[in-house]
Amino acid sequence: MAGFGKNQFSEDGSERTPNSSGASSGLPWWHPKGWGKKILGGIAATIVILIVVIVVPVVVTRNKDNAYPNYSTLTYSLSESYSGTSFFDEFDYFTGYDPTAGFVHYVPSEQAEALNLTYASSSSAILRVDTSVNSSSVPNASTGRFSVRISSKKQYANNQLFIFDVKHTPTGCGTWPALWLVDQDHWPTNGEIDLMEAVNVVGSTENQIALHTTEGCTMSGQRKMTGTSLQASCLNSTHGNAGCGVHAGPSTFGTDYNTGGGGVMAMELRSAGIRMWQFARSTIPSDILANAPDPSIWGDATADFPSTHCDIDTHFRNQSIVANINLCGSWAGAAEVFAENCSGTCSDFVADHPTAFADAYWEFGAFQVYSARNTTAARR
Ligand SMILES: *[C@@H]1O[C@H](CO)[C@@H](O)[C@H](O)[C@H]1NC(C)=O
Ligand SMILES: *[C@@H]1O[C@H](CO)[C@@H](O)[C@H](O)[C@H]1NC(C)=O
Ligand SMILES: *[C@@H]1O[C@H](CO)[C@@H](O)[C@H](O)[C@H]1NC(C)=O
Ligand SMILES: *[C@@H]1O[C@H](CO)[C@@H](O)[C@H](O)[C@H]1NC(C)=O
Ligand SMILES: *[C@@H]1O[C@H](CO)[C@@H](O)[C@H](O)[C@H]1NC(C)=O
Ligand SMILES: *[C@@H]1O[C@H](CO)[C@@H](O)[C@H](O)[C@H]1NC(C)=O
Ligand SMILES: *[C@@H]1O[C@H](CO)[C@@H](O)[C@H](O)[C@H]1NC(C)=O
Ligand SMILES: *[C@@H]1O[C@H](CO)[C@@H](O)[C@H](O)[C@H]1NC(C)=O
Repeated sequence: MAGFGKNQFSEDGSERTPNSSGASSGLPWWHPKGWGKKILGGIAATIVILIVVIVVPVVVTRNKDNAYPNYSTLTYSLSESYSGTSFFDEFDYFTGYDPTAGFVHYVPSEQAEALNLTYASSSSAILRVDTSVNSSSVPNASTGRFSVRISSKKQYANNQLFIFDVKHTPTGCGTWPALWLVDQDHWPTNGEIDLMEAVNVVGSTENQIALHTTEGCTMSGQRKMTGTSLQASCLNSTHGNAGCGVHAGPSTFGTDYNTGGGGVMAMELRSAGIRMWQFARSTIPSDILANAPDPSIWGDATADFPSTHCDIDTHFRNQSIVANINLCGSWAGAAEVFAENCSGTCSDFVADHPTAFADAYWEFGAFQVYSARNTTAARR
């Protein structure tokens, strides 16, 4: 309390002390009734200044962060379907070594078929890792295991709604499976959208959703989602290219997800933002099952990437649908990451344990792409 009362000025400007009993009014110095107009005016002015200096900037900042795009209802109609025995027909097979230093050989379509790494029936499409060779068989896995990476021939612009039926997610030490969209030849310029991704899954874990972009795309403003934000910056060169990730919640990848029959990932790509909903099999909305999806009635997304601090139109272009199962590589194979749930080194494990990859497979139902009706054209 030292100093309190010092520099407290009376109406006439003379200094008073806490012990003075109030000059003109006879009231104690601290009693507001004894304060004159100048003091009251001074206090009022101080309060106004404080409001302007402190409160207004906070409110302005809040308003900017509270800004939220208008996800007005769009009307979608089916434009593409990848399904049945022709599921793989409109995909290209990426071949050769993995761009992220994975311990894997991506095989062309003929070899994938011969090894039964891709297989489509009327109801399911399977994409798996080879389980037949080890490091001393012929051919061998000493420089990487056979796997598959497919990308849709068609590239998508925005104002689309994607519905992915995912019945089984790949599991096992060394695995790094992903279901995503990207323009492979213009990365990160044209953006990357990761719908399902996880590494070294030996039980049940959270699906990690993310975007990867060039500069000028962050998720620092208001979002409406049930998932947990991991990083706000989507810039590829921050956080070791982790992207602006979102954890989708318990049982969204791995054993529990698979045991429940998987579910549906829905992704709306539009100028207002990118939203993804992950539904377990038992909670798929009836409008999706009826092939008439309407995101406006699904409630908060699992992951919301609003356009508030990210121009979606310029950061995301020419997106192909990609599904792959990488092995080891810069994420799954990082020593400290692999060691979390697995033992030995990732490449030794992958080379020498073919049967450990029996559950390292994606099983998909149909992939559907719906396009928003072009209201500009419709009005003409
Ligand atoms: C959102 O956009 C729709 C369609 O353009 C419009 O009808 C609606 O009024 C907008 N809502 C808000 C809150 O701006
Ligand atoms: C290929 O895999 C499918 C799905 O697992 C299986 O039903 C089929 O029998 C396999 N084909 C061969 C030739 O092994
Ligand atoms: C594995 O296969 C490669 C050719 O892909 C060959 O050069 C190498 O000698 C083989 N290693 C073993 C242990 O057979
Ligand atoms: C590797 O595969 C070959 C051929 O299938 C088999 O004979 C051999 O026992 C396997 N080696 C190991 C270490 O599993
Ligand atoms: C690793 O194991 C722990 C339990 O020991 C589990 O909670 C976690 O989800 C596992 N991670 C993966 C990726 O499977
Ligand atoms: C990020 O992208 C830039 C090109 O925009 C590239 O030069 C750089 O190597 C990338 N960094 C990482 C960590 O991927
Ligand atoms: C998208 O792809 C088309 C066709 O390949 C190409 O003409 C166009 O320049 C690409 N757009 C961007 C922004 O990369
Ligand atoms: C919508 O239609 C108009 C007129 O035909 C066209 O100029 C515009 O590019 C279309 N927009 C999209 C997103 O397809």
